[in-house]
Amino acid sequence: MMTLPTPDFPEPEPPLPEPPLWEQIAEQSRQLPGGERLQKVLASTGWGSRRVCEELIAEGRVTVNGEVAKLGRRVDPEHDLIEVDHAPVGVKPGLVYYLLNKPTGVVTTAKDTHGRKTVVDLVPLEPRVFPVGRLDADTEGLLLLTNDGDLTHRITHPSHGVEKEYLVHVKGRLSSGELRRLRDGVELDDGITAPADASQPTPGVIRLTIHEGRNRQVRRMCDALGHPVLRLVRTRVGPITDRSLRPGDWRELSTGERRALTEAVAEQARRYDHPS
Ligand code: URA
Repeated sequence: MMTLPTPDFPEPEPPLPEPPLWEQIAEQSRQLPGGERLQKVLASTGWGSRRVCEELIAEGRVTVNGEVAKLGRRVDPEHDLIEVDHAPVGVKPGLVYYLLNKPTGVVTTAKDTHGRKTVVDLVPLEPRVFPVGRLDADTEGLLLLTNDGDLTHRITHPSHGVEKEYLVHVKGRLSSGELRRLRDGVELDDGITAPADASQPTPGVIRLTIHEGRNRQVRRMCDALGHPVLRLVRTRVGPITDRSLRPGDWRELSTGERRALTEAVAEQARRYDHPS
């Protein structure tokens, strides 16, 4: 019987020793792109559980620096612009959002040339914040202050800013025709006002909701009807309201309020882009 020559196999190399665990971990993290997982960052800003945030990403509603994000995307919250439905998400560290109940006699500027008290004097000095829009010195009520310039810009957009609701005490009482004029639009020297919501819960007290933010708009609208304003109080900015905040007091917005505000801003922009 013929015996086949045995092939000359090389001796197998001894296996390399396993690198120590700390080296394996260091290597893994070198391979990972930097930053935090997008769904984790979104969840931390109040957009819902991580699962909900994953769905937002999967639905293509989240962009990072203008590009639709894919699941698994990592971000640097300090530098990346994260948006949900085209509205920036306030995830950058250091951003603060205050709600102030502005008393009368305080001016809505960062610094007053006549040395009067300003709304900025009523909230913490650091970080430096700015009022979102303005209320006249003799107007009371809710005012947002923030260092988030992007959100400020969107809330105060001249034609698609968020709703602002006012309680207005006027001289006399409005007829139903005058209320209708408030709703349909009042001719002012800078043009007719956009449709508004108006009701008169008590004779001489109007609840008025407007989207625009023209200078002294509510006062001018009421003047145009022959009912000068006696007292003007802002009771709501978008979804933000607070009946228990006393004049001169302020508080931080909750995460839920910030989210609701961002959503309201996005909704207004959508309506503006696609009017029904
Ligand atoms: N409209 C006004 O006339 N004054 C304000 O302060 C706010 C809205």
